[in-house]
Amino acid sequence: MKKITIAIDGFSSCGKSTMAKDLARKIGYIYIDSGAMYRAVTLYSMENGIINQGNIDAEKLKQHISDIHISFKLNAETGKPETYLNDVNVEDRIRGMEVSSNVSPISAIDFVRVAMVAQQQEMGEAKGIVMDGRDIGTTVFPKAELKIFVTASPEIRAQRRYDELKAKGETADFEEILKNVKERDYIDQNREVSPLRMADDALLLDNSNLTHEQQSKWLYDQYHRVIESLK
Ligand code: DC
Repeated sequence: MKKITIAIDGFSSCGKSTMAKDLARKIGYIYIDSGAMYRAVTLYSMENGIINQGNIDAEKLKQHISDIHISFKLNAETGKPETYLNDVNVEDRIRGMEVSSNVSPISAIDFVRVAMVAQQQEMGEAKGIVMDGRDIGTTVFPKAELKIFVTASPEIRAQRRYDELKAKGETADFEEILKNVKERDYIDQNREVSPLRMADDALLLDNSNLTHEQQSKWLYDQYHRVIESLK
């Protein structure tokens, strides 16, 4: 069967990665979480004295950018992909609040984006890939056969993030999370390089009131429709 490229973009914490991962598993495609790559660059910056109390030493990061190698490996036990930074598993560390608070400004730096987009395009060369992020349908894979733009209200997204952290046994403050969600939306939509926006040929999905099962089915139906149209 012909393999296609699937781009899933949208706001933070709106369930993009859950639906993207789900679809990839169902149809045997590779799944890449591009946000995890920006998070890994942020963690690297925190651990190497490039970010200090929110201040970024961009010159130093530029010197280090070619030393930052990000890859994904399937965890054999859980069957889920995990993020590796220079061959060290950083999956848990990149999901914490500290990385979340620093990732937006890091992802707004032009040379960071150039480096990550190049790695992402390489990963998608053979098609058969589902990638989620902010600029996948507009910049990384502008020719993707299926593009989805996902959205949900900030309050619903903050509640999902809160539940996720609580389930992991981490401390969480709803108001702080909501503030972080809104700040990230603002930075993501207003940065100069590759701002978050819906591609003209993307399909809009507001999943505020959808269950996981409903959105998974909707996404699979879209995939199926595109595949049938290419026959
Ligand atoms: O999807 P996420 O919350 O894990 O993304 C983390 C940050 O990275 C978020 O602030 C937006 C940014 N990002 C981006 O700029 N471009 C992407 N393709 C993916 C994420």
